[in-house]
Amino acid sequence: MNLDPILFLQPARVVDPDSWVGHIAFAHYLVKLIRPRLIVELGAHSGNSASAFAHAQTYLDIEGQTHAIDSWEGDSQATFYGGHIYEDFLEFSRLNFNGRLILKKGYFQDKLADYDDESINLVHIDGCHSYDNVKADYESWLPKLAPNGVMLFHDTTVTQNAFGVHRYWSEIAPEFPHFELPDSHGLGVLMPKGVANAQLQEFADNGLPSELLYFLSMRRTELMNYIATNRQAEIILKKLGPDLERPLSGQIDKASDRLFDMIKAHGENKNWIQKLLKL
Ligand SMILES: C[S@@+](CC[C@H](N)C(=O)[O-])C[C@H]1O[C@@H](n2cnc3c(N)ncnc32)[C@H](O)[C@@H]1O
Repeated sequence: MNLDPILFLQPARVVDPDSWVGHIAFAHYLVKLIRPRLIVELGAHSGNSASAFAHAQTYLDIEGQTHAIDSWEGDSQATFYGGHIYEDFLEFSRLNFNGRLILKKGYFQDKLADYDDESINLVHIDGCHSYDNVKADYESWLPKLAPNGVMLFHDTTVTQNAFGVHRYWSEIAPEFPHFELPDSHGLGVLMPKGVANAQLQEFADNGLPSELLYFLSMRRTELMNYIATNRQAEIILKKLGPDLERPLSGQIDKASDRLFDMIKAHGENKNWIQKLLKL
């Protein structure tokens, strides 16, 4: 298959935790496929996934918004974290996606009334991952999904730590057109109110082509390496103590920017990659 150029779009935000970074390129592509005016995410944490959706909407000039709903308290599986996560993501969204990416602080159930029935084109379920929570999130948000809309389920391949998405996914998926991405803990793509176009129907009929899966897994590895390098740099800086941390942190930031540029350069090598995949 020919890889769509949007798969090479540089991510807007790549931060810890890294569980979603392997889906960023696919998220960009999905937004191109369905051109969603309204995207609602249940569970945003530090913002990797919500930023990918908003970034693609912006890049593709789609008139619309991404709403990220989260209590920003954490939960027993994502761990409970402090207020700095929200503050940092809020600042990022203001600087980069003002008016496009809306952070809605609160519990999912309390935000339902903000949306008309059949008004949301893409719902991403990534809150608490127990069987009962995922089922409740799906059932309560399904009426809000527009005709031909898409529901995403993250963590469909995780079987430990009381994660029950895999069990709920195995029950619900066979009822509707669907496909699944295996990497980054699994992402289920469900189309319970009709299939928007022929490309998605093709994926539902035959799964994702191996060339695309291979490409996505290469993209994932790059971004995971980037996060791991930043993480190591932070650990080293902390160990050096405040006197050395200040003068060195500027250099580390520069190195980190260079790494991000390399990822961008990879995008610019797309013709070469296209050829390689066709061999
Ligand atoms: C796995 S994290 C989301 C990860 C995120 N999508 C990413 O790109 O990394 C789950 C988030 O859901 C939030 N959460 C869980 N249950 C919630 C609920 N009922 N209402 C609001 N937020 C909730 C937690 O605060 C946590 O930040």
